[in-house]
Amino acid sequence: LVRGFRNLTDADFELPPAGCLIVGSNGHGKTSLIEALLYGEVFRSFRGAPDRELVRWGEDGFHVAADRVSTGYDARTRRKRVKVDGAEPRRLAEAIGLVRGAVLRPGDVELVSAGPRRRRQYLDVMLSLTEPGYVAALSRYRRALKHRHQAEGAELPAWERVLAECGRQIIAARGRWVEGWRQRYGQLCEAVGETGRAELIHEPSVSADMLAATLERTRERDLERGRTGVGPHRDDLKLMLNGRELRAYGSAGQQRTAALALRLCEAETLGAGTVCLDDAFAELDAERSRRLAALVDGMVERGVQVIAAVPKQSELPSPVDSLPRWRIEHGQVRR
Ligand SMILES: Nc1ncnc2c1ncn2[C@@H]1O[C@H](COP(=O)(O)OP(=O)(O)OP(=O)(O)O)[C@@H](O)[C@H]1O
Ligand SMILES: [Mg+2]
Repeated sequence: LVRGFRNLTDADFELPPAGCLIVGSNGHGKTSLIEALLYGEVFRSFRGAPDRELVRWGEDGFHVAADRVSTGYDARTRRKRVKVDGAEPRRLAEAIGLVRGAVLRPGDVELVSAGPRRRRQYLDVMLSLTEPGYVAALSRYRRALKHRHQAEGAELPAWERVLAECGRQIIAARGRWVEGWRQRYGQLCEAVGETGRAELIHEPSVSADMLAATLERTRERDLERGRTGVGPHRDDLKLMLNGRELRAYGSAGQQRTAALALRLCEAETLGAGTVCLDDAFAELDAERSRRLAALVDGMVERGVQVIAAVPKQSELPSPVDSLPRWRIEHGQVRR
Protein backbone atom coordinates (compact mmCIF):
# COMPACT_ATOMS: atom_id res chain seq x y z
CA LEU A 1 0.00 0.00 0.00
CA VAL A 2 1.29 3.46 -0.89
CA ARG A 3 -0.25 6.89 -0.35
CA GLY A 4 1.32 10.27 -0.91
CA PHE A 5 4.72 8.76 -1.60
CA ARG A 6 6.90 10.49 -4.24
CA ASN A 7 5.35 10.19 -7.67
CA LEU A 8 3.67 6.85 -6.97
CA THR A 9 -0.05 6.69 -7.58
CA ASP A 10 -1.96 5.89 -4.39
CA ALA A 11 -2.61 2.20 -4.63
CA ASP A 12 -2.86 -1.10 -2.89
CA PHE A 13 -1.13 -3.94 -4.66
CA GLU A 14 0.97 -6.94 -3.88
CA LEU A 15 4.06 -7.75 -5.86
CA PRO A 16 4.48 -11.47 -6.51
CA PRO A 17 6.22 -13.18 -3.56
CA ALA A 18 8.38 -15.02 -6.06
CA GLY A 19 9.59 -11.72 -7.50
CA CYS A 20 9.07 -9.78 -10.71
CA LEU A 21 10.51 -7.32 -13.15
CA ILE A 22 9.47 -3.71 -12.92
CA VAL A 23 9.78 -2.22 -16.35
CA GLY A 24 9.39 1.53 -16.69
CA SER A 25 11.03 4.50 -18.36
CA ASN A 26 13.35 6.90 -16.60
CA GLY A 27 11.58 9.01 -14.04
CA HIS A 28 8.43 6.89 -13.91
CA GLY A 29 8.90 5.67 -10.36
CA LYS A 30 10.96 2.47 -10.24
CA THR A 31 13.35 3.66 -7.56
CA SER A 32 10.47 5.25 -5.65
CA LEU A 33 8.66 1.93 -5.62
CA ILE A 34 11.69 0.14 -4.17
CA GLU A 35 12.03 2.92 -1.64
CA ALA A 36 8.41 2.47 -0.56
CA LEU A 37 8.76 -1.29 -0.45
CA LEU A 38 11.77 -1.24 1.87
CA TYR A 39 10.87 1.84 3.90
CA GLY A 40 9.79 -0.32 6.84
CA GLU A 41 13.20 -1.91 7.21
CA VAL A 42 14.84 0.93 9.11
CA PHE A 43 12.12 3.55 8.58
CA ARG A 44 13.97 5.66 6.15
CA SER A 45 14.75 5.79 2.48
CA PHE A 46 17.38 3.29 1.37
CA ARG A 47 18.95 6.15 -0.58
CA GLY A 48 19.16 8.13 2.62
CA ALA A 49 16.72 10.77 1.35
CA PRO A 50 15.10 12.78 4.15
CA ASP A 51 11.46 11.89 4.84
CA ARG A 52 10.13 15.28 3.78
CA GLU A 53 11.48 14.66 0.27
CA LEU A 54 9.50 11.43 0.06
CA VAL A 55 6.21 13.23 0.61
CA ARG A 56 4.53 13.81 -2.71
CA TRP A 57 4.64 17.46 -3.71
CA GLY A 58 1.59 19.25 -2.35
CA GLU A 59 0.71 16.52 0.16
CA ASP A 60 1.31 16.69 3.87
CA GLY A 61 2.37 13.17 4.58
CA PHE A 62 2.75 9.66 3.27
CA HIS A 63 1.70 6.19 4.23
CA VAL A 64 3.44 2.99 3.19
CA ALA A 65 2.79 -0.57 4.21
CA ALA A 66 4.56 -3.75 3.20
CA ASP A 67 4.43 -7.11 4.90
CA ARG A 68 3.50 -6.66 8.55
CA VAL A 69 4.83 -3.14 8.88
CA SER A 70 3.09 0.12 8.06
CA THR A 71 4.30 3.66 8.52
CA GLY A 72 2.53 6.97 8.39
CA TYR A 73 4.62 10.11 8.19
CA ASP A 74 3.18 13.52 8.92
CA ALA A 75 5.23 16.28 7.32
CA ARG A 76 3.69 19.03 9.47
CA THR A 77 4.67 17.47 12.78
CA ARG A 78 7.53 15.43 11.29
CA ARG A 79 6.26 12.49 13.25
CA LYS A 80 6.18 8.88 12.20
CA ARG A 81 3.60 6.39 13.31
CA VAL A 82 4.64 2.82 12.93
CA LYS A 83 2.42 -0.19 13.22
CA VAL A 84 3.26 -3.86 13.27
CA ASP A 85 0.34 -6.15 12.50
CA GLY A 86 -1.92 -3.16 13.05
CA ALA A 87 -0.66 -2.32 16.56
CA GLU A 88 1.81 0.35 17.63
CA PRO A 89 4.93 -1.18 19.14
CA ARG A 90 6.10 0.28 22.43
CA ARG A 91 9.39 1.29 20.94
CA LEU A 92 10.40 1.82 17.35
CA ALA A 93 13.30 -0.57 17.88
CA GLU A 94 10.83 -3.44 18.12
CA ALA A 95 9.70 -2.77 14.58
CA ILE A 96 13.14 -2.43 13.05
CA GLY A 97 14.34 -5.36 10.99
CA LEU A 98 11.00 -7.09 10.46
CA VAL A 99 11.29 -6.11 6.82
CA ARG A 100 14.60 -7.31 5.48
CA GLY A 101 15.76 -6.31 2.09
CA ALA A 102 18.82 -5.26 0.16
CA VAL A 103 19.17 -3.10 -2.91
CA LEU A 104 21.77 -3.51 -5.63
CA ARG A 105 22.32 -0.56 -7.91
CA PRO A 106 25.09 1.04 -9.95
CA GLY A 107 25.39 3.94 -7.49
CA ASP A 108 26.68 1.45 -4.92
CA VAL A 109 30.09 1.90 -6.45
CA GLU A 110 30.39 4.79 -4.01
CA LEU A 111 30.62 2.23 -1.25
CA VAL A 112 34.00 1.42 -2.70
CA SER A 113 35.16 4.69 -4.20
CA ALA A 114 34.05 7.10 -1.49
CA GLY A 115 35.60 7.69 1.92
CA PRO A 116 35.30 5.40 4.94
CA ARG A 117 32.08 7.04 6.13
CA ARG A 118 30.02 5.20 3.51
CA ARG A 119 31.48 1.88 4.50
CA ARG A 120 30.89 2.54 8.18
CA GLN A 121 27.28 3.31 7.33
CA TYR A 122 27.05 0.07 5.43
CA LEU A 123 28.29 -1.86 8.46
CA ASP A 124 26.15 0.11 10.87
CA VAL A 125 22.87 -0.47 9.06
CA MET A 126 23.57 -4.15 8.66
CA LEU A 127 24.76 -4.72 12.21
CA SER A 128 21.92 -2.66 13.64
CA LEU A 129 19.58 -5.17 12.09
CA THR A 130 21.45 -8.28 13.11
CA GLU A 131 23.54 -7.67 16.25
CA PRO A 132 21.62 -7.39 19.49
CA GLY A 133 22.55 -4.19 21.30
CA TYR A 134 24.33 -2.63 18.34
CA VAL A 135 21.84 0.19 17.68
CA ALA A 136 21.75 1.09 21.34
CA ALA A 137 25.54 1.15 21.56
CA LEU A 138 25.74 3.28 18.44
CA SER A 139 23.31 5.88 19.64
CA ARG A 140 24.84 6.06 23.11
CA TYR A 141 28.26 6.35 21.50
CA ARG A 142 27.16 9.24 19.27
CA ARG A 143 25.63 11.09 22.16
CA ALA A 144 28.74 10.65 24.29
CA LEU A 145 30.94 11.84 21.44
CA LYS A 146 29.04 15.08 21.29
CA HIS A 147 29.04 15.50 25.05
CA ARG A 148 32.74 14.80 25.45
CA HIS A 149 33.51 18.11 23.84
CA GLN A 150 31.01 20.10 25.89
CA ALA A 151 31.49 18.37 29.22
CA GLU A 152 32.92 20.11 32.23
CA GLY A 153 34.76 18.79 35.25
CA ALA A 154 33.63 15.42 36.50
CA GLU A 155 31.31 14.86 33.54
CA LEU A 156 34.17 14.32 31.17
CA PRO A 157 35.45 10.98 32.47
CA ALA A 158 31.86 9.77 32.69
CA TRP A 159 31.27 10.47 29.01
CA GLU A 160 34.58 8.90 28.17
CA ARG A 161 33.55 5.75 29.99
CA VAL A 162 30.46 5.58 27.79
CA LEU A 163 32.61 6.17 24.71
CA ALA A 164 35.00 3.43 25.70
CA GLU A 165 32.30 0.94 26.61
CA CYS A 166 30.06 1.47 23.58
CA GLY A 167 32.97 2.06 21.23
CA ARG A 168 34.50 -1.20 22.24
CA GLN A 169 31.25 -3.00 21.55
CA ILE A 170 30.93 -1.39 18.12
CA ILE A 171 34.51 -2.08 17.07
CA ALA A 172 34.25 -5.66 18.24
CA ALA A 173 30.98 -6.30 16.39
CA ARG A 174 32.37 -4.85 13.17
CA GLY A 175 35.52 -6.92 13.56
CA ARG A 176 33.53 -10.10 14.10
CA TRP A 177 31.42 -9.45 11.03
CA VAL A 178 34.45 -8.88 8.82
CA GLU A 179 36.11 -12.00 10.20
CA GLY A 180 33.00 -14.03 9.50
CA TRP A 181 32.38 -12.69 6.00
CA ARG A 182 35.77 -12.08 4.45
CA GLN A 183 35.89 -15.45 2.81
CA ARG A 184 32.37 -15.22 1.44
CA TYR A 185 33.16 -11.74 0.17
CA GLY A 186 36.09 -13.17 -1.81
CA GLN A 187 33.89 -15.92 -3.23
CA LEU A 188 31.23 -13.44 -4.28
CA CYS A 189 33.78 -11.19 -5.99
CA GLU A 190 34.96 -14.20 -7.90
CA ALA A 191 31.41 -15.25 -8.69
CA VAL A 192 30.73 -11.82 -10.23
CA GLY A 193 33.85 -12.17 -12.36
CA GLU A 194 36.78 -10.82 -10.39
CA THR A 195 39.96 -12.66 -11.24
CA GLY A 196 42.28 -10.91 -8.77
CA ARG A 197 42.62 -11.57 -5.05
CA ALA A 198 39.87 -9.62 -3.29
CA GLU A 199 40.10 -8.89 0.42
CA LEU A 200 38.03 -7.24 3.08
CA ILE A 201 39.90 -5.73 6.01
CA HIS A 202 38.55 -4.16 9.15
CA GLU A 203 40.81 -1.30 10.04
CA PRO A 204 39.84 0.27 13.34
CA SER A 205 41.52 3.54 14.27
CA VAL A 206 42.38 1.85 17.56
CA SER A 207 41.81 -1.67 18.81
CA ALA A 208 38.77 -2.26 21.01
CA ASP A 209 41.02 -3.00 23.97
CA MET A 210 43.07 0.16 23.62
CA LEU A 211 40.19 2.58 23.17
CA ALA A 212 39.78 3.60 26.82
CA ALA A 213 43.47 4.22 27.36
CA THR A 214 43.87 6.06 24.07
CA LEU A 215 40.95 8.37 24.82
CA GLU A 216 42.55 9.32 28.06
CA ARG A 217 45.94 9.85 26.50
CA THR A 218 44.67 12.01 23.64
CA ARG A 219 42.12 13.92 25.70
CA GLU A 220 43.94 17.20 25.84
CA ARG A 221 44.71 17.39 22.16
CA ASP A 222 41.21 16.21 21.19
CA LEU A 223 39.51 18.83 23.33
CA GLU A 224 41.73 21.52 21.91
CA ARG A 225 40.94 20.54 18.35
CA GLY A 226 37.29 19.94 19.11
CA ARG A 227 37.14 16.40 17.77
CA THR A 228 37.87 12.92 18.95
CA GLY A 229 40.66 11.34 16.96
CA VAL A 230 40.09 7.66 17.71
CA GLY A 231 37.09 5.39 17.97
CA PRO A 232 34.60 3.60 15.73
CA HIS A 233 33.63 6.88 14.05
CA ARG A 234 37.11 6.80 12.52
CA ASP A 235 37.21 3.14 11.46
CA ASP A 236 37.51 1.92 7.92
CA LEU A 237 36.51 -1.18 6.09
CA LYS A 238 39.28 -1.55 3.56
CA LEU A 239 38.62 -3.21 0.24
CA MET A 240 41.71 -4.58 -1.39
CA LEU A 241 42.46 -6.13 -4.73
CA ASN A 242 45.78 -7.88 -5.12
CA GLY A 243 47.01 -6.13 -2.01
CA ARG A 244 46.14 -2.61 -3.10
CA GLU A 245 43.26 -0.41 -2.08
CA LEU A 246 40.44 -0.58 -4.59
CA ARG A 247 39.32 2.89 -3.68
CA ALA A 248 42.57 4.36 -4.96
CA TYR A 249 43.68 1.93 -7.63
CA GLY A 250 40.67 -0.06 -8.79
CA SER A 251 39.15 0.32 -12.23
CA ALA A 252 35.50 1.29 -12.51
CA GLY A 253 34.49 -2.30 -13.23
CA GLN A 254 36.58 -3.70 -10.39
CA GLN A 255 35.04 -1.22 -7.97
CA ARG A 256 31.58 -2.06 -9.19
CA THR A 257 32.25 -5.76 -8.71
CA ALA A 258 33.37 -5.19 -5.13
CA ALA A 259 30.28 -3.09 -4.45
CA LEU A 260 28.04 -5.87 -5.75
CA ALA A 261 29.83 -8.39 -3.56
CA LEU A 262 29.31 -6.15 -0.53
CA ARG A 263 25.60 -5.87 -1.27
CA LEU A 264 25.31 -9.60 -1.78
CA CYS A 265 27.05 -10.15 1.56
CA GLU A 266 24.57 -7.76 3.09
CA ALA A 267 21.61 -9.61 1.59
CA GLU A 268 22.95 -12.89 2.98
CA THR A 269 23.81 -11.45 6.38
CA LEU A 270 20.32 -10.04 6.74
CA GLY A 271 18.71 -13.16 5.40
CA ALA A 272 16.93 -10.68 3.16
CA GLY A 273 13.51 -11.81 2.05
CA THR A 274 13.54 -9.23 -0.73
CA VAL A 275 16.44 -8.28 -2.95
CA CYS A 276 15.90 -5.35 -5.28
CA LEU A 277 18.02 -4.74 -8.33
CA ASP A 278 17.63 -1.12 -9.30
CA ASP A 279 19.00 -1.18 -12.81
CA ALA A 280 21.86 -3.23 -11.39
CA PHE A 281 22.88 -4.69 -14.72
CA ALA A 282 23.55 -1.31 -16.25
CA GLU A 283 27.22 -0.67 -16.87
CA LEU A 284 28.27 -4.29 -16.37
CA ASP A 285 29.99 -6.10 -19.21
CA ALA A 286 28.26 -9.11 -20.75
CA GLU A 287 30.25 -11.63 -18.75
CA ARG A 288 29.67 -9.96 -15.38
CA SER A 289 26.01 -9.43 -16.23
CA ARG A 290 25.63 -13.10 -16.97
CA ARG A 291 27.35 -14.05 -13.73
CA LEU A 292 25.25 -11.67 -11.67
CA ALA A 293 22.14 -13.08 -13.34
CA ALA A 294 23.22 -16.57 -12.28
CA LEU A 295 23.65 -15.39 -8.68
CA VAL A 296 20.26 -13.74 -8.76
CA ASP A 297 18.73 -16.90 -10.15
CA GLY A 298 20.17 -18.75 -7.18
CA MET A 299 18.40 -16.33 -4.85
CA VAL A 300 15.09 -16.88 -6.65
CA GLU A 301 15.58 -20.61 -6.17
CA ARG A 302 16.17 -20.08 -2.46
CA GLY A 303 12.82 -18.32 -2.24
CA VAL A 304 14.08 -14.74 -2.15
CA GLN A 305 11.71 -12.22 -3.69
CA VAL A 306 13.76 -10.59 -6.42
CA ILE A 307 12.47 -7.27 -7.70
CA ALA A 308 14.43 -6.18 -10.76
CA ALA A 309 13.74 -2.66 -11.98
CA VAL A 310 14.83 -1.86 -15.52
CA PRO A 311 14.12 0.85 -18.04
CA LYS A 312 14.19 -1.65 -20.91
CA GLN A 313 13.59 -5.33 -20.62
CA SER A 314 15.87 -6.10 -23.53
CA GLU A 315 18.88 -5.24 -21.40
CA LEU A 316 18.28 -8.10 -19.00
CA PRO A 317 20.34 -11.25 -19.16
CA SER A 318 18.58 -14.59 -18.83
CA PRO A 319 17.31 -16.19 -16.69
CA VAL A 320 16.37 -12.98 -14.87
CA ASP A 321 14.41 -11.84 -17.91
CA SER A 322 11.92 -14.63 -17.40
CA LEU A 323 10.57 -13.25 -14.11
CA PRO A 324 6.94 -12.11 -14.38
CA ARG A 325 6.84 -8.69 -15.89
CA TRP A 326 5.15 -5.73 -14.27
CA ARG A 327 5.12 -2.17 -15.56
CA ILE A 328 5.27 1.21 -13.98
CA GLU A 329 4.06 4.27 -15.84
CA HIS A 330 3.77 7.73 -14.35
CA GLY A 331 3.92 6.17 -10.92
CA GLN A 332 1.21 3.64 -11.62
CA VAL A 333 2.10 0.00 -11.09
CA ARG A 334 0.41 -2.48 -13.38
CA ARG A 335 0.69 -6.17 -14.00
N1 LIG B 1 8.28 14.21 -3.50
C1 LIG B 1 7.95 13.98 -4.77
N2 LIG B 1 6.68 14.16 -5.18
C2 LIG B 1 6.32 13.90 -6.45
N3 LIG B 1 7.16 13.47 -7.40
C3 LIG B 1 8.44 13.27 -7.05
C4 LIG B 1 8.89 13.50 -5.73
N4 LIG B 1 10.20 13.23 -5.66
C5 LIG B 1 10.54 12.84 -6.91
N5 LIG B 1 9.49 12.86 -7.74
C6 LIG B 1 9.46 12.47 -9.15
O1 LIG B 1 9.32 11.08 -9.15
C7 LIG B 1 9.74 10.57 -10.39
C8 LIG B 1 10.20 9.17 -10.22
O2 LIG B 1 11.52 9.07 -9.78
P1 LIG B 1 12.26 7.66 -9.69
O3 LIG B 1 13.62 7.97 -9.19
O4 LIG B 1 11.44 6.70 -8.92
O5 LIG B 1 12.30 7.22 -11.21
P2 LIG B 1 12.93 5.91 -11.87
O6 LIG B 1 11.84 5.17 -12.56
O7 LIG B 1 13.72 5.18 -10.88
O8 LIG B 1 13.87 6.55 -12.99
P3 LIG B 1 15.32 6.14 -13.50
O9 LIG B 1 15.14 5.05 -14.50
O10 LIG B 1 15.80 7.38 -14.15
O11 LIG B 1 16.13 5.75 -12.33
C9 LIG B 1 10.71 11.58 -10.95
O12 LIG B 1 10.18 12.05 -12.17
C10 LIG B 1 10.72 12.70 -9.93
O13 LIG B 1 10.70 13.97 -10.52
MG1 LIG C 1 15.75 4.87 -10.62
